[in-house]
Amino acid sequence: MKKRIIVGNWKMNPTTFDEAKRIFKSTKSAAEKLKSVSVVLCPPFVYIPQLLNSRTESAVSVGAQDVYFEERGSFTGEISPLMLKDLGIKYVIVGHSEKRAKGQTDEMIAKKVAMLLEIGISPILCIGEETRSEDGAHLDFLKSQIKNSLNKVSKKNIGDLIVAYEPIWAIGAKEAMKPEDIYEMSIFIRKVLADLYGHDEAVATPVLYGGSVNFRNALEIFEKGQINGLLVGRESVNVAGFVELLKTIDA
Ligand code: PGA
Repeated sequence: MKKRIIVGNWKMNPTTFDEAKRIFKSTKSAAEKLKSVSVVLCPPFVYIPQLLNSRTESAVSVGAQDVYFEERGSFTGEISPLMLKDLGIKYVIVGHSEKRAKGQTDEMIAKKVAMLLEIGISPILCIGEETRSEDGAHLDFLKSQIKNSLNKVSKKNIGDLIVAYEPIWAIGAKEAMKPEDIYEMSIFIRKVLADLYGHDEAVATPVLYGGSVNFRNALEIFEKGQINGLLVGRESVNVAGFVELLKTIDA
């Protein structure tokens, strides 16, 4: 059975390293008991080196929340994919809507995705529409977002790609998208991937859902949504809830 992937996006939390260690440690000890779930935690950059050091084995992978699209040079404040590679990072969230809202374009995201795949890091490519419309305009939007974000990636490099469908209106919201709608969207996303890279590649690419997932709604979303995993924001820094979520999906 293919492993289910649960990614925790800590965003800009917590504000002390002590708290980061505590969340990481508790999540890790729960993750060690899981059989069918892979856990990836994406803390803020400053915590990454120390969390990587404090991990004894790989029950939890440490990922990054973003990366820059150049390898080196005069780019103040940016982090190169090569630096992440050197640390041993295997996953990077790319194109999160909170970064897109600050000016990241499909063009920049396409460069990041291609660079990461080239050096053997899995991009967790976030896609998602701002609103849904009766006439299906959000489907066209999503299709072009996927195409534009992958326009530098060839079929032979696609193996490590992960796609995270996160409708913007469901992020940081009270409720997640309805599982039935997630199911529809996951089929649509696979269809777009199949048109681009072929059926086998589309089926092999993990598609995750993100947006207001918590321990209460996770299982229904996972089962009815027919997805390969979840991208969890707020609930991933709420240890008790996140551990409960992991156990539910593992069972
Ligand atoms: P949320 O965030 O779970 O807090 O809605 C999800 C995300 O932004 O990845």
